[in-house]
Amino acid sequence: MNDKTAAPRRILTGITTSGIPHLGNYVGAIRPAIQSAIQGASTGESDAYFFLADLHALIKCHDPEAIHASTKAIAATWLACGLDPDRVVFYRQSDIIEIPELTWVLNCNCAKGLMNRAHAYKAAVDANRETPDTDPDFGISMGLFSYPVLMAADILMFNATHVPVGKDQIQHIEMARDIAGTFNFRYCDPEKPIFVLPEAMVDDDTPLLTGLDGRKMSKSYGNTIPLFGDPSSNQPQIDGEKALRKAIMRIVTNSQLPEEPKNPDDSTIFEIYRAFASTEEQQLLRQRFEQGIGWGDAKEVLFEKINSEIAPFRARYNELMANPKELEEILQMGAEKARRDARKRLEKVRKAIGIKPLAKLKK
Ligand code: TRP
Repeated sequence: MNDKTAAPRRILTGITTSGIPHLGNYVGAIRPAIQSAIQGASTGESDAYFFLADLHALIKCHDPEAIHASTKAIAATWLACGLDPDRVVFYRQSDIIEIPELTWVLNCNCAKGLMNRAHAYKAAVDANRETPDTDPDFGISMGLFSYPVLMAADILMFNATHVPVGKDQIQHIEMARDIAGTFNFRYCDPEKPIFVLPEAMVDDDTPLLTGLDGRKMSKSYGNTIPLFGDPSSNQPQIDGEKALRKAIMRIVTNSQLPEEPKNPDDSTIFEIYRAFASTEEQQLLRQRFEQGIGWGDAKEVLFEKINSEIAPFRARYNELMANPKELEEILQMGAEKARRDARKRLEKVRKAIGIKPLAKLKK
């Protein structure tokens, strides 16, 4: 492939800082990403770059406090769940000032037509066309339109080889490949391309968590279970656990009575349980469903299971949330590492495009 030197794989992924992490984010993104980073680091097969995509968050969110609170909560969540900032380069996108510069250079090497085909932009235009008396570009900012170019800069800045993403993001990785190819072709010796063409990594085994109402768990449906509870609480340890139990007790069930045999495959409780329990544990709960466990008891089993996994993380989360200095230091350390790499690559890019000193000056 593009990896001629057999250099180790570099995994990179961004987390948009809008919203407070919920259980669906944990199961679908946080837990698998941390596990694969631990594995990659211990086998030496890959290194990993994880970052808080706060410049991306501006596309959808114009509430400064929400952006700030989300950045803090997401940083604390990933670290509390086991992300090791000494093994993974963990940083905030906006600290890497090389990224906006690279974004501009890539913008100038990206056909507008390519962006016209982006699914997210097209969906927004289609929705406008269906609304009478509405301009097709109503509500669409340049940020939304050129979002895939910023994402390409995030990836190409560090020559990531593998980008773990959801299915909805595959097109963006293809666009990043396209942009990298154009740039390499236009400016580089074919033997010495500056950019690596990244590959999307889509994990079909990662469960999509079901929400309280039986639909996919998502902030936009308002059916989420909080991971660590309310960040503004002054008794976070107790309240976090309470919030988890309370949410689980709100899972919608049918009106079957205790003792009636129940179908686990038709139950949100069982569906969520599967994302946390071993095969044996699942088998046991399956039997209890068939024997007619009451909904209240089934919810209690689910609560205990989830809580046993996340309670140890909750303590660390609360500690970090109460100590933003520690968070900031970790992010600054990550930014320093990331920028070392970014600066080098941007230097090459600048040279390639003809932006360089006119003469060397003696100091
Ligand atoms: N757009 C991604 C999302 O919404 C987040 C993201 C931003 C990202 N930059 C990235 C993911 C670079 C992977 C690589 O999920």
